[in-house]
Amino acid sequence: MKSPHIAIIGTGNMGKSLIAGLIKNNHPAHCLTASNRGEEKLIDVQKLFHIHTTTNNVEAAKNADVVIFAVKPHIVPQISKELASIVHTRKPLIISVAAGIEIKNLSQWLNGYHHIVRTMPNLPASIGSGMTTLYADPTVNQQNRNLAESILRVVGTIVWLYDESLMHVATALSGCGPAYFFLVMEALQDAATHFGLPQDAAYLLTVHTALGASKMAIESGETLSTLTQNVASPGGTTEKALSVLEQEHIRELFKKALNAAIIRSQEIAQSYSHSS
Ligand SMILES: NC(=O)c1ccc[n+]([C@@H]2O[C@H](COP(=O)([O-])OP(=O)(O)OC[C@H]3O[C@@H](n4cnc5c(N)ncnc54)[C@H](OP(=O)(O)O)[C@@H]3O)[C@@H](O)[C@H]2O)c1
Repeated sequence: MKSPHIAIIGTGNMGKSLIAGLIKNNHPAHCLTASNRGEEKLIDVQKLFHIHTTTNNVEAAKNADVVIFAVKPHIVPQISKELASIVHTRKPLIISVAAGIEIKNLSQWLNGYHHIVRTMPNLPASIGSGMTTLYADPTVNQQNRNLAESILRVVGTIVWLYDESLMHVATALSGCGPAYFFLVMEALQDAATHFGLPQDAAYLLTVHTALGASKMAIESGETLSTLTQNVASPGGTTEKALSVLEQEHIRELFKKALNAAIIRSQEIAQSYSHSS
């Protein structure tokens, strides 16, 4: 099957991660074009990946089957308007990775264009272990949904959502999530050093326990609750520690934290919808 020509608008962290993932997954370099405001990052991706580069966004999109918007959210209205005409002529699939930008706004800035998939990757995409949620405009056909899915898979795992408002929950969970786990790991590491474990040992024990737990959750097929029970033998040490966490309402705490992130995500989306 012929590889689609993909234009990546913005070669910062996310744009570069996607290019790296596509190249690693054997997407032909001659089918990738990247554009960026400044030349410095383009020289870097050109050297690394030998793809076409340009500082002209319209030039980048002119032969594209897919155009990926990988600029900061506040730049999206500007590049949408810049690309609206070529998009209506060429009719590519638009994939946006911009946090908080709703499809209805993108569609409006692109003068009523609807072939849009909105995505929310997270930071580990930069090492190919990202978690991305996708939401497509209802008019996007299955072939284009598959195409969007195959592109985002190059930076990790994907999940489709069928209600755009749930992107706020996804943002609060997987978008912000790496920071929750970093904080929990740091808290565990600090607690262990408090009780005498050397810092470097505490660090290794913490991060590899997190990695092992995550791999086991993914690979075992058991529910998280069963896995927790399996470690916590009655009367044992784990059960004691878990009972402290439950008494201190850890579940309520995470509900409150997610709720705060969801509300902030809604506020940010609202502010972008007033951009023009
Ligand atoms: N990084 C993440 O982990 C992550 C996670 C989820 C979602 N996202 C989303 O991904 C998007 C990009 O984030 P990022 O972290 O990759 O940001 P970034 O590193 O700042 O990259 C943005 C890039 O856009 C370029 N740019 C700015 N204005 C432009 C224009 N008019 N035309 C073409 N390129 C332009 C910038 O170029 P110059 O540097 O030359 O100005 C920069 O290279 C954001 O919308 C963000 O919400 C990122």
